Amino acid sequence: MEPYRIKVVEPIPVTTRVQREQALRRVHYNLFGLRADEVTIDLLTDSGTGALSAAQWAAGMAGDESYAGSRSFYHFQEVVRDLTSYPCILPVHQGRAAERILFSALLTPGQITVSNTHFDTTRANVELSGCQAVDLPCPEAQDLDSSEPFKGNVDLYRLEEALHRPDASRIALVIMTLTNNGGAGQPVSMDNLARAATLCRKHGVPLFLDAARFAENAWLVTQHEPAYRDMSPRQVAEQAFRLADGCLMSAKKDGIAHIGGFLGLRDRALAERCELLLIATEGFPTYGGLAGRDLDMIAQGLTEVTDPRYLQSRAEAAHHLARLTRDAGISIIEPPGLHALYLNAGRLLSHIAAHRFPGHALACQLYLEGGIRSVELGSLYLGQEDENGAPVTTAPYELVRLALPRRTYGPGHLNHVGEVLAAAVKSKERIPGYRLVEQPSLLRHFRCKLEPVPS
Ligand code: F0G
Repeated sequence: MEPYRIKVVEPIPVTTRVQREQALRRVHYNLFGLRADEVTIDLLTDSGTGALSAAQWAAGMAGDESYAGSRSFYHFQEVVRDLTSYPCILPVHQGRAAERILFSALLTPGQITVSNTHFDTTRANVELSGCQAVDLPCPEAQDLDSSEPFKGNVDLYRLEEALHRPDASRIALVIMTLTNNGGAGQPVSMDNLARAATLCRKHGVPLFLDAARFAENAWLVTQHEPAYRDMSPRQVAEQAFRLADGCLMSAKKDGIAHIGGFLGLRDRALAERCELLLIATEGFPTYGGLAGRDLDMIAQGLTEVTDPRYLQSRAEAAHHLARLTRDAGISIIEPPGLHALYLNAGRLLSHIAAHRFPGHALACQLYLEGGIRSVELGSLYLGQEDENGAPVTTAPYELVRLALPRRTYGPGHLNHVGEVLAAAVKSKERIPGYRLVEQPSLLRHFRCKLEPVPS
């Protein structure tokens, strides 16, 4: 059971099917356009959507809003140093700001970053620095149905090969994303991380963690990596941070905060360069774009998030929803992670071609059937068409992500999601594909307009 009880509640909107049909038409079938008031269960993201604890709200009240030298900062710094071992801690308003600052300070155009999988903002920030982001996911990740426990690993063979190639001097950085969000939320084993760290050290390349979900990764390590079975998630997390030269952190995930993040660094000279960019673009180094109360809330969240009882109940929620999904007849990327389930919409809606966006079609149907908001991760997100709408590139898989906000939805909500999934499967032959009618030149999935194309 969940290791907490509920003190504050928030009503959730209930809408009729007719209202949802109208809402979908109004937003041109783009779920990012919906008002939150039109969504009953919002599984769009687990980022910044968690419920704070009483202790976090109390910590917020005690926050010190001094511009320079805030008491909240020194507390935050102590907590983060203790967890990560990095001497230099720079607060930022969210994870992508840490990415922008680190890459601006560290990368020069033409260089390469290598990762198990770059998250999309990480990739975008690498590319904005004039560099190339190379993903080397492990081969096991390609089998969506296998229940191998560490499908988030980096391919060590290809990493070593890359570090030996003639252009290896262009590799500026290796980034391990824990858990691997771009790779279906699959975890990275400590063995894989330690071997990647050894390779990086041997070749003089810094290793960074994208630690947004470090506690969930550590929990899965204690469950599936025999050498770590007797360790606490906190001990595993501490070890993971100690294998790297620094970290990028979005505290909106495993900080259980609504906003915030930080950059952790061992290299003091690099930290000084980052600090200048921080002052110019985020704020003075003792607040970094956050309020003092945010720093205290994050510090408290970081101490709560490695509680094994909390992590276990989160894993059980994900497994419960995974069972409901399989029972409804929908395959997911196995095994289920903790922060999200990834539905295989391409397999379910095989009558819809990739350039008619089966993932998007399923996401719209889940909204129509029961007010559930999810996000497509398929050809709408990753593909491209020519001016006549014919596919130029399509995504390798047509997926829908159901993200699980932390401490927010209980078993009753998940059962509702299960019923809606079953209803969508019942009508699957009648689910239409979609055609783009308008798209911006960049990051089209956020703002594009679509219309249904009856199959
Ligand atoms: N790294 C990872 C692995 C992420 O999942 C995210 C955000 C970021 C970096 C960027 O952090 O949002 O604080 O700027 N992921 C969210 C998601 C948006 O829905 O998966 P941010």
